[in-house]
Amino acid sequence: YTGNASIADMQTHVKFLRLRMKNPKFYAAKASIDSIYPGMTIGVGTGSTVDELIPQLPSDCRYVASSIRTGQSLNAHNLTVLEFNEVDKIDVYIDGADAIYPSFVLLKGGGGAMTREKILATFADKFIVIADGTKWGQDFKNIACPVEVIDFTRSHVARQIRAMGAHCEYRSGFKTDQGHVILDVYGFDLGQPNQLELSIKKIPGVIDSGLFALRRPECILIADNDQVKKIDKDSDH
Ligand code: A5P
Repeated sequence: YTGNASIADMQTHVKFLRLRMKNPKFYAAKASIDSIYPGMTIGVGTGSTVDELIPQLPSDCRYVASSIRTGQSLNAHNLTVLEFNEVDKIDVYIDGADAIYPSFVLLKGGGGAMTREKILATFADKFIVIADGTKWGQDFKNIACPVEVIDFTRSHVARQIRAMGAHCEYRSGFKTDQGHVILDVYGFDLGQPNQLELSIKKIPGVIDSGLFALRRPECILIADNDQVKKIDKDSDH
């Protein structure tokens, strides 16, 4: 960084670089760009890690947004955004996660966007998770499993969830992009995650949950500062 830059410019630039170095989400997002090729249709998740991804996305692809927020951001970056109904294929879906278990089961939906996220992930040929190191392999007792529910049914769904041994907190004042409400659930037994995901989805009034067990990612990119670890589904991690 030389030339006619003033001291103030240089200080701003150094501050920017320091911020980047401290931002593992940026590096996890950057690493996912290697999986994107010209002409692909890319599904884009929602959240602060995806916020780091969007400015890095190439302009020679088409994008499908998992939320209104992501759609607005893609548009703001002059990227080509298509409705999900307009595409017949999603090559790669890239998203963050709230918690990642070593079995590649995920908890998502901290931002309430998990229903569309799960649809795009399930439809995609390849699902890549980008995350900082805090999301990987820990004891996630304090992380909620959000459940999107038709408001009309919320007390009944909460009762069913309590009967499953967990407890719910109503996410007050929040509506999803579909206009539904969220119950944040703590204490689910994740011993049989595929079965649990199906059991939650079967409760009348439930739209979907943030438990991603039936659709697990093919690849996880975990960053600590600027070091990114790539973990593939079938690798010995
Ligand atoms: C959005 O509803 C979520 O599923 C996010 O994908 C998830 O919470 C990760 O968000 P951050 O990247 O902000 O941690």
